[in-house]
Amino acid sequence: MPSVISISNLSKTYASGVQALKRVDLEIYQGEILALLGPNGAGKTTLIGIICGIVTPSTGIVLTDGYDIVRDYRMARSKIGLVPQELATDMFETVWDTVNFSRGLFGLAPNHAYIESVLQQLSLWDKRKQEIMALSGGMKRRLMIAKALAHEPEILFLDEPTAGVDVELRRDMWHMVRTLREQGTTIILTTHYIEEAEEMADRIGVIRKGEMILVEDKTSLMKQLGKKQLSLHLQQPMAEIPEALAQWQLSLDGEGHDLLYTFDMHDEHKGISSLLKRMSELSINFTDLNTSQSSLEEIFVELVNGQQ
Ligand SMILES: Nc1ncnc2c1ncn2[C@@H]1O[C@H](COP(=O)(O)OP(=O)(O)O)[C@@H](O)[C@H]1O
Ligand SMILES: [Mg+2]
Repeated sequence: MPSVISISNLSKTYASGVQALKRVDLEIYQGEILALLGPNGAGKTTLIGIICGIVTPSTGIVLTDGYDIVRDYRMARSKIGLVPQELATDMFETVWDTVNFSRGLFGLAPNHAYIESVLQQLSLWDKRKQEIMALSGGMKRRLMIAKALAHEPEILFLDEPTAGVDVELRRDMWHMVRTLREQGTTIILTTHYIEEAEEMADRIGVIRKGEMILVEDKTSLMKQLGKKQLSLHLQQPMAEIPEALAQWQLSLDGEGHDLLYTFDMHDEHKGISSLLKRMSELSINFTDLNTSQSSLEEIFVELVNGQQ
């Protein structure tokens, strides 16, 4: 896949002395959804700010479609739409005016048919004559996306698009983002909701204290680091794991009522049937059985805590 944004050795130290980014290297590929995942203060908004030309980098280079974001700012910026973390917009303007104005900021000729299609897609067409202040919170968020798309960018940045929104609206947003991707837009979103990265992303970048500690295809990340667990609810509680079951990696939970077998995701079904057979030979009966696999959340917590 061709790279649309190429970031090398990017660092940012704010005037306050805070080092928000430390030598970040990252390639963003055409047509992907990349989720930048990291706790508050990790440097996500700073990274987006630099790529969008709002924050000046201390060192390093960012190329957007081959254009340097500092030297060829206008060309680089024209490729990018940004939905900022903070919703700031003029409350008295109408939906229609504000979106057309956003397009004009990029020096493009008006294109009412295009703006109509954006508003239709975001279910804002019926609201086009309303003032922004009359819109619900969810509608305002859609409007921010419409403004970001007004100049037909190839790349869309969404900085914490669903922070503080309810579950229904979050699912709506996810659906919209997927639709945009299907139409060919490259999407980079930041989030501290692991569930969001898990649901949406093709690739996940984990930022911690200004460092990109990992960038990986989501599926292979979960395969590599994920664990599966089989949980057996025992008829009779156990005080300890019998010697005869020592060859499996077992532990007890629920005051001896639950026998847990944990194994790597890529060893699918490894040893389960032999474990169950051995248990039946030993007359260890269970009344219920469940399997679960570790979520990205568990993987993420391990990653962020593991690399001190
Ligand atoms: N304008 C600024 N001036 C000084 N420090 C800042 C500024 N913006 C962000 N920071 C600091 O840089 C670090 C990264 O912040 P930010 O990029 O907003 O992280 P995130 O978006 O991951 O929460 C934090 O320590 C934050 O306090
Ligand atoms: Mg932020």
